[in-house]
Amino acid sequence: MPNRVVQKSPIKLPKPRLKGLTVEDAIANRRSIRSFRDKEMPLETLSQLLFAAYGVTAHKWGIDLHAAPSAGALYPFEIYIYVRKVKGLRRGIYRYVPHDHELIPIFYGDFDREVIRACLGQDYAAGGNVTFILVAVFSRTTRKYGERGYRYIYMEAGHISQNIYLEATSLGLGTVAIGAFYDDLMNQIVGVDGSTASVIYVQPVGYPH
Ligand SMILES: Cc1cc2nc3c(=O)[nH]c(=O)nc-3n(C[C@H](O)[C@H](O)[C@H](O)COP(=O)(O)O)c2cc1C
Repeated sequence: MPNRVVQKSPIKLPKPRLKGLTVEDAIANRRSIRSFRDKEMPLETLSQLLFAAYGVTAHKWGIDLHAAPSAGALYPFEIYIYVRKVKGLRRGIYRYVPHDHELIPIFYGDFDREVIRACLGQDYAAGGNVTFILVAVFSRTTRKYGERGYRYIYMEAGHISQNIYLEATSLGLGTVAIGAFYDDLMNQIVGVDGSTASVIYVQPVGYPH
């Protein structure tokens, strides 16, 4: 695996200001898409998708409030992405920083083989322009809610995933939520330990055929 740690200076994303379908049309048209065209994605599009997934939409009570709801506003998720074909970005694994709307590079390299293997051979897991990898940091929620926190975390993964589905549909893109993967292999790809933090969901986004 090309696990080269790179210099982690952040990459500022453009302001999310794209407009697509109405939410009604996005809901009506949403479908899981598993086949993608080979076309470059503008950085503005990736910016919009990340903002929809988990971007900061308000600031209240001294904290950031995000695009997806979260029990106790504790926001247990870190959004990692595997960038394959996005204008201006090197191929590799990045972590999204919602507060600053920027990306931190984690590893550069081609992770197609690793992602597909981790996802039980589902080749579309590394088929689009970018694969979202939703990572939960459990203690952020279980510290307050105990065992019940796990339930909340899985619910919240669904909220984020649906935001990605609807934004993708709105922008003429396609996506599919992937829950079938080997935890250990997926965790290795983003460099989390699987106990304090673990991958919960994998979601490629690309241009549909
Ligand atoms: C929790 C969850 C896990 C899923 N895992 C996979 C998966 O591993 N691979 C896949 O191709 N689709 C997966 N899907 C997508 C479903 O197959 C898809 O939503 C379903 O067939 C309905 O089709 P639609 O999304 O187009 O309405 C998953 C969906 C959910 C909600």
